Amino acid sequence: MSAQTPIEKIVETPGNLVVHWENGEISKYPYLYLRDNCPSPSTIHSNGQKLIETSCINAAISAQNSELRNGTEVLINWDTEDHTSLFSAQWLFDHRLSKAAIAERRQQHMAHEPVELWNATLNQHLPVGDYGAISVSDEALCSWLANVSRYGFAVLRNVPAELGMVSKVVELFGYVRETNYGKLFDVKTTVNPNNLAFTSLGLSAHTDNPYRNPTPTLQLLHCLQSSAVGGNSVVVDGFKVIADLKAYSPQMFRLLSTTPVTFRFENQDQWIERTDTIIGLDVFGEVNAIRFNNRSVQAFEVDEDNMPAFYAAYQQLAKMIDDERYFVQFKMEATDLFIVDNERVMHGRSAYDGSAGERFLQGTYADRDGLLSKLCVLKRKVISQLV
Ligand SMILES: [Fe+2]
Repeated sequence: MSAQTPIEKIVETPGNLVVHWENGEISKYPYLYLRDNCPSPSTIHSNGQKLIETSCINAAISAQNSELRNGTEVLINWDTEDHTSLFSAQWLFDHRLSKAAIAERRQQHMAHEPVELWNATLNQHLPVGDYGAISVSDEALCSWLANVSRYGFAVLRNVPAELGMVSKVVELFGYVRETNYGKLFDVKTTVNPNNLAFTSLGLSAHTDNPYRNPTPTLQLLHCLQSSAVGGNSVVVDGFKVIADLKAYSPQMFRLLSTTPVTFRFENQDQWIERTDTIIGLDVFGEVNAIRFNNRSVQAFEVDEDNMPAFYAAYQQLAKMIDDERYFVQFKMEATDLFIVDNERVMHGRSAYDGSAGERFLQGTYADRDGLLSKLCVLKRKVISQLV
């Protein structure tokens, strides 16, 4: 954002420098905050990292004197140390500290990476990319990653049906997250499986590995063989389901976002468990995760008086997740791949007949931070190529 107006005057008050903007707005900056964020090379490295220890600044620091230059710069000499800070009006404007200004910046940040909730209507316009295109074109990769960020889900076509290609796709934007299942895992019918995913049974929509902390935030599945009857893939937007559940029953939403439950995976060699809420909230109280996996959730530790209400909420959520109005369904063919944000979009499949053909997928996990970082860098690059 650019400064809408120059500075009319500055006023030193006890504890704060007060900036009067020419449009009549008044902004207050605590001296400690200004000293801590001084842009001088002795305070902040050219790489953007801070060189000083905040704890070493005198908490009672104040301006010995200050000066407004041309309405566009503010110079401050400090009283408790021999140091001068020079702030641009632009920086001061971009860091106004009123509640309204902070809220406005948060809105802008959210608009920068829009999240679009969806239901079955997304079947009409699946977010799809082409492997050949995204592996050679920044623009195509940027567009595909932006879809993952927006919908928490995207399909990729024409990924060669070769072992290990799912890892190659991850390498385009981030890093494989290795787990006890390995760097990647095969999803096909096996004898004595340690996970029901490795059978031909249908799987209701779920998030993977909620027993792990941190849970892998991305999952990719790549189809190498698909001649079995059945085995359609289903994905469901957990954030959309939660929004609708909250509208239907704020009380159920509250129970599912405050009651701890435990997820566990155990076998001879592993005991992995995590206790957390089914609906995760961020520091702003907004939904930022769903953890839903009926196969690995343990007996609820809810007191006897509140257990019926918790079950009512859990069953309501589960029924909504199982409601076809939320389903995006597709049959994965060899060379198809899909990616989900594993803390937002649930995935499942219908049962398949393993005796009448083959169904072979390879999957892997990765993390959202790497993907969002790549997306951010690509956006800058693509935009700079356009101008
Ligand atoms: Fe799964």
